[in-house]
Parts: sequence; C-alpha cells; structure tokens
Amino acid sequence: MDRLWLAPAGLHIEPAVAADAHKLAQLHQAGFYRGWSPEEFEAMLNEPHRTPAYVACDSRRRIAGFAIWRVAVDEAELLTIAVERRWRGKGIGRALLVAGIDDLRYSPVARLFLEVAEDNAAAVSLYRTTGFNRVGERRGYYERPDGRHATALVMSRELG
Ligand SMILES: CC(C)(COP(=O)(O)OP(=O)(O)OC[C@H]1O[C@@H](n2cnc3c(N)ncnc32)[C@H](O)[C@@H]1OP(=O)(O)O)[C@@H](O)C(=O)NCCC(=O)NCCS
Repeated sequence: MDRLWLAPAGLHIEPAVAADAHKLAQLHQAGFYRGWSPEEFEAMLNEPHRTPAYVACDSRRRIAGFAIWRVAVDEAELLTIAVERRWRGKGIGRALLVAGIDDLRYSPVARLFLEVAEDNAAAVSLYRTTGFNRVGERRGYYERPDGRHATALVMSRELG
C-alpha cells in the first residue's frame, strides 16, 4: 500500500481503484439527488492523476465513504464526497477531505475549489472548518426533484 491515512471508527483512507466503481455509484446514488453510473465512476477511477479518488474503508476494505477530485493544471475541484448514512457524524467525511488535501500537496495543485448547495448544512460546515471560504454563488444552480431550485455556493482555499 503506497498511501494510507488513519480515519476515526477503526477505518482508514486509501486511494480508490477501478474495482470500486459499483460500490461508489451505489453510495453516490444514496447521497445525491442525481446519481452517476458505475461506468462514469470507472472512467474517473481509471485516471487517478486527473481525477484522484479516495475511499474510507475497514481492514477488509468494506467502503463507508469516498471523495473524488478533478485536477486541472494548478487547481483541483472536489467533484463529490459522500459517507454512507450510518457512518455519518463520526469524522469520516473530514478524514476523507483532509487525506485528499494532504495527497494533493504532492502535485502541482495550488488552489482548491468546490460547489455545495447552500442548504446542505453538514457539508457547508465541513468545508468552512477545513479552511474553505465562500468566493461566489450560482443562484438556482441545483434543481430538486420537486422542481425547487437551490443556490450553489462556490468555495475555495489555497492548498497551503
Ligand atoms: C457531507 C458529508 C460527506 C459529511 O460526512 P460526515 O462523515 O458525516 O462528516 P464528519 O462526521 O466528518 O463531520 C465533519 C463536519 O461536518 C459538519 N457536520 C457533519 N454533520 C453535520 C450535521 N448533521 N449538521 C451540521 N454540521 C454537520 C461539522 O462541522 C463536522 O465537524 P465537527 O464534527 O467537528 O463538528 C455527509 O453528510 C454526506 O455524505 N452527505 C451526503 C452527500 C453530500 O451532501 N455531500 C456533499 C456534497 S457537496
């Protein structure tokens, strides 16, 4: 194992691999209004330099959460992060985020970005307390299943 970070609740964080695609699609589907297909995940997991991805798992590699970034020259965007519902609130989302940030220090990335729905209190709080600041917003960016629209906050931080 080349890169591994400790996480709470006996879990650890390690890079995701293509064989994780189905599990990540399943977790993503449960955490978001619009899911991505296993094929979309597989394509990202096959390009770890462009789309570095991390899983939180136990010693038998049962996956409780994941995060995927997209790197473009000296910027990285957090594409998605999700923790299985029963594992939430234990510090695993924070551990996933921090592991990715730590790993990106070994790349040319200098600045991090993400977009988050303004009404996603857990995620907004996680990002604020990990050093991200609001740098903009996109009104009505997300469409909910009931037709309502939610504002996306654009948040950023230096890799530092
Ligand atoms: C957002 C998400 C990844 C957080 O994962 P998690 O493992 O539950 O988060 P953690 O336990 O590491 O909590 C980290 C911080 O998030 C915030 N947080 C977590 N749950 C929260 C809640 N229910 N309400 C408010 N803040 C919360 C807190 O700031 C917390 O820090 P603290 O414990 O030091 O107070 C998880 O809620 C999730 O998968 N949500 C569905 C998918 C999603 O919305 N992803 C983000 C899209 S941009």
